[in-house]
Amino acid sequence: MRSGYGRSIFEPLLPLILGRDVSGEVAAVGASVKSLTVGQEVFGALHPTALRGTYTDYAILTEDELSPKPASLTHVEASAIPFAALTAWRALKSTARITEGQRLLVIGGGGAVGFSAIQIAVAAGCHVTTTCGNQSINRLMAAGAEQAVDYTSEVDIESVIKEKFDAVLDTIGVPETERIGINLLNRGGHYMTLQGEAAALSDRYGLPIGLPAATAVLFKKRIQYKFSHGIEYSWIYMRADSEGLHEIRRLSEAGKLSIPVEKTFSITQVREAHEAKDKKQILGKVVLELD
Ligand SMILES: NC(=O)c1ccc[n+]([C@@H]2O[C@H](COP(=O)([O-])OP(=O)(O)OC[C@H]3O[C@@H](n4cnc5c(N)ncnc54)[C@H](OP(=O)(O)O)[C@@H]3O)[C@@H](O)[C@H]2O)c1
Repeated sequence: MRSGYGRSIFEPLLPLILGRDVSGEVAAVGASVKSLTVGQEVFGALHPTALRGTYTDYAILTEDELSPKPASLTHVEASAIPFAALTAWRALKSTARITEGQRLLVIGGGGAVGFSAIQIAVAAGCHVTTTCGNQSINRLMAAGAEQAVDYTSEVDIESVIKEKFDAVLDTIGVPETERIGINLLNRGGHYMTLQGEAAALSDRYGLPIGLPAATAVLFKKRIQYKFSHGIEYSWIYMRADSEGLHEIRRLSEAGKLSIPVEKTFSITQVREAHEAKDKKQILGKVVLELD
């Protein structure tokens, strides 16, 4: 967003406050809020199009965007979870509606969304296969994945993964991973990519042309894959989901869902934090802390 992603929406509304995830204490509540009280420790995430983000001393969220913080987690640990886990939740629970015994392929299980998806699916009793970098294999197998294939090795992923799946979550979403994901699905299965083209096309052509163009691209792909492979094709976008967030809290409290935090920065070092991520000096999750 800082370097222009979503500018078709955000540019007329600058300046923005960035940041989506939050973990902290309730400072004040509106008159209609029923489930939260001042002083309560909460965590949650803002909707992707929110203008006033969480890189602040005081963030404003709706009741639906917050849940009590898992008691066993620190604010730093809790703040790493909601946006990524809710994105995975939307794919697996709201879109593919995974059920016990189903087979899921997570392309890019090493990242925050992919790792959340593995843990949510394992907790739901699914069989999970994933692709990830060599350094992530042990972590993903420990989280319950049954097979983890190193995408950086020379192996042909399709020939190593011998089975077919009921759902594929593609967190990478490039043509190569899309081809692999689609080919490895059973008929009736769901292919879900995090790299929907709505923002990119709107940024390139402006909202009035970009959004209809994106709808047309999505519609064409849905029809194309329905006829060629008999599968459902979806773009996944994170959305606030009160029920999902509460379930994510329950999984976290039960020790079944966590996202490792690689480094914390003071919020005053936000520039250094962003640069370190941009330059890939830090691969894992970064959390900004208020002093
Ligand atoms: N649509 C939405 O609403 C939404 C929401 C959240 C995120 N996103 C997008 O989804 C993507 C993932 O987000 P994230 O937060 O999970 O990112 P992240 O934590 O930065 O994870 C990225 C990971 O992808 C893995 N990777 C890279 N290339 C790969 C490949 N060819 N095959 C398999 N794994 C590969 C790497 O894992 P290893 O360390 O194992 O190499 C890397 O750690 C980002 O592009 C993000 O912008 C979209």
